[in-house]
Amino acid sequence: MKKILITGGVGFIGSHVVRLFVNKYPDVQIMNLDALTYAGNLENLRDIENAANYTFIKGDITDQDFIERLFATHDFSGVIHLAAESHVDRSIEDPLLFIRTNIIGTMNLLNACRNSWKSFEGKRFYHISTDEVYGSLGDEGLFTEATPYDPKSPYSASKASSDHLVRAYRNTYKLPVVISNCSNNYGPNQFPEKLIPLSINNLKHSKQIPVYGKGENIRDWLYVEDHADAIDRVYHQGADGETYNIGGNNEWKNIDLIRLLCKIMDKKLDRKPGTSAGLITFVKDRAGHDLRYAIDSSKISRELGWQPSLTFEEGLEKTVDWYLENNKWLHNVTSGAYVEYYRKMYKE
Ligand code: NAD
Ligand code: TYD
Repeated sequence: MKKILITGGVGFIGSHVVRLFVNKYPDVQIMNLDALTYAGNLENLRDIENAANYTFIKGDITDQDFIERLFATHDFSGVIHLAAESHVDRSIEDPLLFIRTNIIGTMNLLNACRNSWKSFEGKRFYHISTDEVYGSLGDEGLFTEATPYDPKSPYSASKASSDHLVRAYRNTYKLPVVISNCSNNYGPNQFPEKLIPLSINNLKHSKQIPVYGKGENIRDWLYVEDHADAIDRVYHQGADGETYNIGGNNEWKNIDLIRLLCKIMDKKLDRKPGTSAGLITFVKDRAGHDLRYAIDSSKISRELGWQPSLTFEEGLEKTVDWYLENNKWLHNVTSGAYVEYYRKMYKE
């Protein structure tokens, strides 16, 4: 049986990718490697954890010996690498952790592929990356695959660095690789530190929603299952050595997004219109806050036939429903260490 290694597979995006692959490819063994950091949650995959073609492995990509042993034991036909530290605010607090996981961790995986794969025939290393590597846009323009790298936060710099390593391993060792750079994802299972799930969780508890600066920063939002579909296409049909930008063609100013979310929350929670918007609180801006991200995804659309399937309103409503229905999940992930982190971030 063919084996694919997915890293970071119990995290937000990874869990949707693992579920898709386990259900869609019953003849392929999907091996999910994850260190179970604060962002990794086995609850995210309860529905498929007993599937015959699924295996979970707890392990850390920064542990070189462990990674080498894993690749010596299993002949993976491919690696889909999502494991990472993923939150910009945390990268501002603790850049070294991002360097370790995102750069050293990626290099350990690249080395393991290079050293353990006897032939590169039929193999593929797929690196999941972010549009943040391109830096920040002004009012005009879109990121294309040819946009020069200009990362501006410790997070995006660590992802840019890992993208460069992936390309360097192809150039130097002929490792077969592919990369995709995606815009902001949202949907079920996202840890409530990122804008959308944090706001839903706070509104649910009638707590203030912190909007950085004036709320004028712009992001291009994509529903997570649409990203998982794009990853499936890039992994199976993407050309060797290529990069694909993935985005929702769905730009929102933060404050407009929050206002839309507030309307949905008032409706779902049966609150008087305007109740949630009353909780909007402008707070100190993020250091070095990128103004605007927006993706030109015409390459993946033209070459691999990919399109986002949901409108933002549909996706946001599905997301709100999921967070309101999954009290236990939300309670579990927002207990303990989260409370301390949140207090520190927002000086509560
Ligand atoms: P996440 O933070 O929700 O999940 C990351 C997962 O990686 C967790 O399960 C965590 O336990 C695991 N992990 C962290 N360190 C590890 C280590 N040392 N060894 C093994 N596992 C480890 O992240 P996400 O939002 O699902 O992002 C997944 C990938 O997609 C990341 O590479 C991120 O850079 C990229 N990405 C994310 C977005 C987004 O909007 N969230 C957009 C574009 C690209
Ligand atoms: P985030 O979800 O952290 O993603 P990223 O920084 O990777 O784009 O933030 C999305 C946008 O929302 C970004 O412009 C920062 C802003 N933001 C807030 O205004 N308040 C918040 O509490 C958070 C977490 C983010």
